[in-house]
Amino acid sequence: MEVRSSAEEKKLLALLLESVSLARQREPIKAIGLCFPFRRSRVALALSGKRELCGNLVAAVMGDAGVERLFFGEFFRCEPFALVKAEGLRPLAETWDLGGFRRLLACGDGYLREEATACGDAFAYSLAGSARGVRVEGSIAPSYWSREQLGEAARLSGFRAETPDPRTVVAHSEGFYLAVKLSAPARFEVGEAEVRFEAPAPLTIAAAGARSSSAALSLAEEALRDPLALAGRRAEQLSAALARAPPPPARDRRVRELWRYCWYVLLSNRCSVDHPVLRKPFTMPSKYVFRHQWLWDSAFHAIVLSAYDAEVAEEELLNLFHAQKPDGRIPHEIFLSKAMCKAFWGVDDYSPWTTQPPVLAVAVERILERRFDEGFAKLAYEALARYDRWFSERRDADRDGLAAYIDYLESGWDDSVRWDGARERFALDPGRYRAAYPEARMAPVEAVDLNCLLYLQRALLSKLAPRFGGDAEAWRGLAERTAALVKGLMWDERTGFFYDVYEEDHSKVPVKTPAAFLTMFAGIAERDQAERLVEHLYSGFWTTFPLPTVSRDDPRYDPKGYWRGRSWINLAWFTYWGLVKYGFSSAARDLAARVVELMAEGPTCNENYNSATGEPLGAPDFGWSTLILDVIADAARRGWI
Ligand code: GLC
Repeated sequence: MEVRSSAEEKKLLALLLESVSLARQREPIKAIGLCFPFRRSRVALALSGKRELCGNLVAAVMGDAGVERLFFGEFFRCEPFALVKAEGLRPLAETWDLGGFRRLLACGDGYLREEATACGDAFAYSLAGSARGVRVEGSIAPSYWSREQLGEAARLSGFRAETPDPRTVVAHSEGFYLAVKLSAPARFEVGEAEVRFEAPAPLTIAAAGARSSSAALSLAEEALRDPLALAGRRAEQLSAALARAPPPPARDRRVRELWRYCWYVLLSNRCSVDHPVLRKPFTMPSKYVFRHQWLWDSAFHAIVLSAYDAEVAEEELLNLFHAQKPDGRIPHEIFLSKAMCKAFWGVDDYSPWTTQPPVLAVAVERILERRFDEGFAKLAYEALARYDRWFSERRDADRDGLAAYIDYLESGWDDSVRWDGARERFALDPGRYRAAYPEARMAPVEAVDLNCLLYLQRALLSKLAPRFGGDAEAWRGLAERTAALVKGLMWDERTGFFYDVYEEDHSKVPVKTPAAFLTMFAGIAERDQAERLVEHLYSGFWTTFPLPTVSRDDPRYDPKGYWRGRSWINLAWFTYWGLVKYGFSSAARDLAARVVELMAEGPTCNENYNSATGEPLGAPDFGWSTLILDVIADAARRGWI
C-alpha cells in the first residue's frame, strides 16, 4: 500500500506495523508506548487476532472495520456501535494489548487507523487517516435476547433517549444511563426502542454508562477529550491486577502466555454494579455474552481466585449467599436487569426459580484450605446447611437421599443429550411430574454429578459442624448414604459406567457423559470402577479436544453441539483431579497436556471447544475455562508440563 500522507502519519503506520509484528512474536510491545502510555504498565500482554475489550460494565467487540457490538452490562446493547462505511476496506494489520485495540485498514487509495479502548464504565473509539468519504453508523438500544424482542425489551426496561446537542445522545434503561458523545455533529434518529446515528470520519466516539445522566455525560466527555488517558488507565489497572497473579509455573513460552492470558480473562471479567442484590463485586462468565452472576460459574471462579487472593475468592460467593431465598435455595443466577430476567424466565425478580449444580461447597473448601477465616467459614456453613436441606425438601420427592434435577437449565448442562428422555417423558404427561414439583420442566433425574457434589457438600458440612454447633454425625450419615446410593443405583457392571437415573423408577438414563467422572473427583468410585472409567476416558471421550459432553459412540454425539458433544474445561478439571486422586498419573498428564496444548494455540479461553477439531466455540474470554490455571499449576508441580 502506498501511503500518501504526512511524515507523522508515515511514522504512525511504521509504528503500528512494527507493533503488530512484535505482537506476532508474542513479545511485549515497546513501540506502542508512544501511542498509549505503556510506561506505566508492569505486565505486558499483546495478542494478535483478539477483538474483545472490556471495562467494568462496558464491553465491546470489534468488527472487521469499526465496533461491531457494545454492551453496558445487561442494560444496553448497541449493535452495531460504530460500523465503518467506506468503499474498498481492507485490513492491513491489527493488534490488541492491555492498552486497547489498534488497526490499520487500507481504504481506496488512502488508509484508516482505528484505536479503541475501554476502562471502568467508559469506552472510546477513534477513526482517523487519509481516506475520504468515510462514515460511521451506530445505534443504542436496551438489552434484548433477539431483535424481534427489541420492542418488548424497551417497554420492560423503560427505554428512552434524548439528544441534548448535535454531538450527544443519552439513553435510559432500567435506572441506568448510557451517554454517547461524538467529536463531530451526527445525524440522530431517536425511535421508541432504538437510537440510530451517523457521522463522518475522522471521528472519535465515546460511550459511558452510569446511574445518573449527568455522571454518564461527564464520563463520556472525559473519554472523548482524552482517549489516550483512558487507554493509559486501562493498561495501568490491568497490569497492576496481573502483577498480583501468581507467576507462570511452567517454562514453555506458550504455556506462560496462556497463563497470563487466563489471568487477564478472569480478572478483567470482574465487575461491580450499583444493584439491590449484587452488592459485592463478582465475575461475569463473559462480558461479551453472559453479563450477570451465575451460581456454578462463580464457584469455579472462586476456586481459581483462591490462588490469587483468598479474600477476592470469598467475595465472589457473597452475593450468592446473600441472595439465598427464605426456603434455603441459592439461586441459579442473579440478573443485572430485572427486565432481562422477566423476558427470559417470565419472573418478576432478579432470579428464576431454579438452582444450579452445587459446586459452592467445593469452592468453599478450596478457599478455607488457602485461608481459614472463621467469619467466612461460619457464613458458608450456615448458608450451605440451609441449601442442603432445601435439596432434601424440594428436590428429593422420594426421600431416598439422592436429589434430582427437575429442569434442564438447573443442571448447568442446558441442552444435554442426558435430558432428552426426561423431556420426552415430561411432554407426555406434565401433570404427573408437577404433582411433586410444580415448576418441573422435565421428568426428575437423579443425576450422577449432582449427587457427587451433594456428597462433597455433606462431607464438608460434617467437617465444619462441630465448630458451628451442627450435627456432624447426621451430615456424615447423609453423605455416606448419598455415596452408597450413587454406587448402588447408578453403576452398571456390564458397561462399566455410572449413569443418571430417573427418580420415578430408578431406571438408568442410557447416555454416557463425563458426569460419571465426578465419581472419581468425589472419591465415591471403587478402585475397579475407576479403572473401568479410565478405559472409557480413552475410548468414547478421547477426542481431539477431550472430553466431549457425550461419548462419541452415542448416535447423538455432535462435536459442535451445545452440551451435546462440545468439550468444556470444567469437566476436564473435575476429571483431572479425579484421575490424580486415584493415582492415574499418566491419564491425568495426558488430559492436561492435550487441553493445555490446544488452549495455548491462540491462546484462547473460550466457553467450549469443538471436540473433534479443537476449534474454540461459544463465548470468548470465558471465566470458568480459567480452571486450566489450576490444572497447569498442579501439573507443573508434578513436572508434567
Ligand atoms: C450457559 C451454560 C451454563 C452456565 C451459563 C453461564 O447457560 O449452559 O452452565 O452456567 O451459560 O456461563
